[in-house]
Amino acid sequence: MTLLDTYARAPLTIVAGEGCELIDDRGRRYLDFIGGLAVNALGHAHPAIAEAIAAQARTLTHAGNLYHHEPAATLARELVGRSGMKAAFFCNSGTEANEAAIKLARKWAFRRGERERVTILACTGSFHGRTLGSLAATANGSYREGFEPLPDGFAFVAFNDADALHDAIDDHVAALIVEPVQGESGVHVASVEFLATARELCDDRGVLLIFDEIQCGMGRAGSLFAFEHFGVRPDIITIAKGLANGLPIGVVLSAERCASGFAPGDHGSTFGGSPVPCAAALAHLRIRDELDLDCTVRARSRELFGALTRLALSMPDVLESPRGLGLLVALPVRAPYEAKSIVAQARHCGLLLGSAGSNTLRFAPPLILSDSDVERAVSLLTLAVEREVSSATCRH
Ligand SMILES: Cc1ncc(COP(=O)(O)O)c(C=O)c1O
Repeated sequence: MTLLDTYARAPLTIVAGEGCELIDDRGRRYLDFIGGLAVNALGHAHPAIAEAIAAQARTLTHAGNLYHHEPAATLARELVGRSGMKAAFFCNSGTEANEAAIKLARKWAFRRGERERVTILACTGSFHGRTLGSLAATANGSYREGFEPLPDGFAFVAFNDADALHDAIDDHVAALIVEPVQGESGVHVASVEFLATARELCDDRGVLLIFDEIQCGMGRAGSLFAFEHFGVRPDIITIAKGLANGLPIGVVLSAERCASGFAPGDHGSTFGGSPVPCAAALAHLRIRDELDLDCTVRARSRELFGALTRLALSMPDVLESPRGLGLLVALPVRAPYEAKSIVAQARHCGLLLGSAGSNTLRFAPPLILSDSDVERAVSLLTLAVEREVSSATCRH
């Protein structure tokens, strides 16, 4: 064992990728409908992304944050402009972006003299990352078990319960952090009513509203930012995963209201805003504009929902109706059938999927997929479910 045992990896060695496909060490091709867990927005080995990375690597790979450099400055300008926020902080992953957002919220209250306002309110079902601060904001006990004591100053409110927010947002709350679509808990979409009530109460009570768009953002919801879909604007947005199409990056976008929370020395990251991931992210933004990717995502989403709904109706003992938003989709599996076994069967059939929450299949394909990719995925999935049904019959 040369890797610590943190992932239950499938018995598959990937050597290359091309578009929506991954290729293993035997040359077998797989249709990738999990996209590196919602990372490969433009698919694998996109030539323009590869070229942007190579060109930047030939010019400047690292100068640190003691100086200005063009890729980070341009990317910050692009993201701020496109989101309507005021300023960006760069780091290297989703969990780091949430750590930075939590610190920004607390420091903002501190600078205003509100020293009691320290609580970060998160939602039941939430997942915000694996580092200790983000883990303290993560509700699911299975991620937390064995890592206590976690930092103090975190509390939870029921997801999608607008009434519960009235009591939960009190004078101790610095920020409410919400995933507009909860990915890890099994793809649960926030209601507009919940997010709008959160906005209203946060405004009334001097609390910041943070949207964790790490999984559902960067075009996956059918708009660059998920908040655009809901029509509710947060004070802070965290993004990561898909932004640099496979290179490590995380970003905190802050509205004007709280951007002054941080002053020099308050926070930092050696590699944050490094030129190569920033160049990849800039290429991603340019290409998504050229492809009109939001339009593609909405069309493919309709097709995927339609095909999965028909499949679920044809196998009512095994599958429930799909749920989700854009190209972050879940298909619940009924006991005694198991999502994890269907994922394994799908892999044998040449389709890569994920699972999430309790007994749920998760789809987060590259956003560039074609209508025939959707058709092919659903026919491979049908085969996989049929195989699971016959092997479950043999097992019992
Ligand atoms: C909503 C959400 N927040 C935070 C994270 C953590 O991101 P990372 O794994 O890049 O630290 C994830 C990862 O799955 C996520 O889905």
